[in-house]
Amino acid sequence: MEEEIPKEILEKYITTIHNWSGIYFTNSNISILKRKILQQSKNFSLTPEEYFNLINNDSEKMMEFIDSITTNFTKFFRHPEQFDFIKNFVIPEIVLKRQQQGLFKIKLWSAGCATGEEPYSMLISSLESFEDNGIKMMIEVIASDISLKCLEIAQRGIYSKEKLEGVPRYIIDKYFNKIDENKFGIKEEYKRFVRFDYHNLLHDNGIRGVDIVMCRNVLIYMDEDTIRKILDNIYTSMHNDGYLFLSPTESLFGITDKFKSFKKDNIFYYHKV
Ligand SMILES: C[S@@+](CC[C@H](N)C(=O)[O-])C[C@H]1O[C@@H](n2cnc3c(N)ncnc32)[C@H](O)[C@@H]1O
Repeated sequence: MEEEIPKEILEKYITTIHNWSGIYFTNSNISILKRKILQQSKNFSLTPEEYFNLINNDSEKMMEFIDSITTNFTKFFRHPEQFDFIKNFVIPEIVLKRQQQGLFKIKLWSAGCATGEEPYSMLISSLESFEDNGIKMMIEVIASDISLKCLEIAQRGIYSKEKLEGVPRYIIDKYFNKIDENKFGIKEEYKRFVRFDYHNLLHDNGIRGVDIVMCRNVLIYMDEDTIRKILDNIYTSMHNDGYLFLSPTESLFGITDKFKSFKKDNIFYYHKV
């Protein structure tokens, strides 16, 4: 039988997690949280209440706990049609505009990048577009997450063969070094375009002028007030004509009037209003 956590203690965890990260646990996913609390408390040989007091008084331990309750599933070129759209349409359009404005760099942001597959996919799609269209432009991809463990993996940029399943052979040969039979590392000459940032989306990261933001499969764990707060920060970071992509199953309908949705070639994206 599952060990019980006193209701008032569980409530404290839920409120604290929400205040720290915006992640909101409800009846539908509470059993996952309970399991994590029991596991972490056991690791420290503490009761859930004692463990709560520990993390509540030690921000580093709190960060580790928040890290442990995040959902980090991701994959290369997840929702591939969005990356095709970025490569074939968004990059050429944005680059042309920035060149006309006398700017020499475009900025992309993977907000909630998990283990790095998303920012590297954004980079590769952009570089492929540069090549296809004879574009000369500087590029920076910001990869941010609240999970330090994930960011470390992202920064290392080494992935197993399974993680690269579905990625075309020529892309692997071009952008990755084969480390051994099962491991591939993103080449340094490409990795240098990606900047990793430990960042909580509830706070402004001070980045401005972002051309393309991907914030996919992150807001699904948040309540509406938190989503609005995060969108305000994303809004501030973006160029006026920048693009925001959520996952195809997410929508901002009825949540904010700061972004307007558009559809082209069956792809949904958002612009600032
Ligand atoms: C399911 S993954 C999505 C990864 C990627 N965007 C994708 O769609 O494949 C969600 C990520 O959001 C991160 N996250 C959750 N809350 C966050 C917050 N408040 N600030 C920054 N990142 C957060 C988690 O740590 C996790 O790595």
